[in-house]
Amino acid sequence: MTDPTSAEPWAHAEPARAVDADTKVLGIETSCDETAAAVVSGGRLIHSSVVSSQVDLHARFGGVVPEIASRAHVDLLTPVISQALVEAGADGPDIDAVAATTGPGLVGSLLVGVSSAKALALVWDVPFVAVNHLEAHLYAGFLEDPAIQLPAVVLLVSGGHTLLISMEDHGRYRLLGSTLDDAAGEAFDKVARYLGLGYPGGPAIDRVAVDGDPEAIAFPRAMRDEGLDFSFSGLKTAVVNHVRKHADVATADVAASFQEAVVDVLVTKATRAAQQIDAKAMCLGGGVAANSVLRERFLSACVEGGFHGFLPSRAMCTDNAAMVAAAGWWRLQADGPTGLDAGADPNLRLPLLAD
Ligand code: KG4
Ligand code: ZN
Repeated sequence: MTDPTSAEPWAHAEPARAVDADTKVLGIETSCDETAAAVVSGGRLIHSSVVSSQVDLHARFGGVVPEIASRAHVDLLTPVISQALVEAGADGPDIDAVAATTGPGLVGSLLVGVSSAKALALVWDVPFVAVNHLEAHLYAGFLEDPAIQLPAVVLLVSGGHTLLISMEDHGRYRLLGSTLDDAAGEAFDKVARYLGLGYPGGPAIDRVAVDGDPEAIAFPRAMRDEGLDFSFSGLKTAVVNHVRKHADVATADVAASFQEAVVDVLVTKATRAAQQIDAKAMCLGGGVAANSVLRERFLSACVEGGFHGFLPSRAMCTDNAAMVAAAGWWRLQADGPTGLDAGADPNLRLPLLAD
């Protein structure tokens, strides 16, 4: 048993046995405004996945308030973990490792999950595994389709990131493109806020756009026809300028036309990336991957381009702890346990292969 009073209290517990399909990982996710815990075996079999959204706490401020988020994680995390264990029919001794998101994210929020994970790992005398939130989003795909063929192009679109990644093997990533300014989810959130649709903006625009005409307004598609990088800040400005000039424009038409412009650029570039690297599969990840038009268009592009397409379910696209447990299982297998002196890193980057 790890001795917390020893000279090296940060020394990690070694896995009691080989990391295999039966290895049960408790995943913990607190990087932003979802408090989540899940129990997953072998990086694939989900026994439970509990997500407690703080969205109502932040909605009246129009965005996530970091201080409120970390306090809410403190209140919610223990009951969320208990529920995940109960739903999985598991008890402490059944858990073989505890994985938590250590970054990127809000530092106060991350610390709540990381500290709890380390405490549980110490008490249960099992390994602690640090998980990169972006890598966890990549593994959401493997949870539901273990047969994804590699190399795959993954379009990772969330509130903080817009990345086109070539996944060559487990843990082996190359960055093909990224946003030069706003993330796609950030653009959805900012435009929704401007249109008075509330927070979070992505689902609100998705809903309102159903009644609008996506071709009503020809919003700009920055850098659509060249390269693999993105830029969304000009699009947001174009929406603001259009609404100022045309006060009577239907909000549904603005929402649908804005969404169309974002989806058009995302799908065009993901397909270009897949062609360039001769990918076998194309995969979506991150909160924006819950968008209904993006999902439809992405799958059509996969069929047309002859790529195996994979979309995680909506629940696995947005932040959850099952993807953290899955990525944690792969990391435990590849790198072994993480030392208990590892901290939270709000600016953690995806580990990339050098060119
Ligand atoms: O991955 P995620 O849950 O958290 C981050 O790691 O950022 O992504 C949240 C982002 C928000 O910007 C939210 O507006 C966006 O995903 N989002 C959507 C939809 N659902 C969530 N964007 C467009 N359409 C949706 N249906
Ligand atoms: Zn996320």
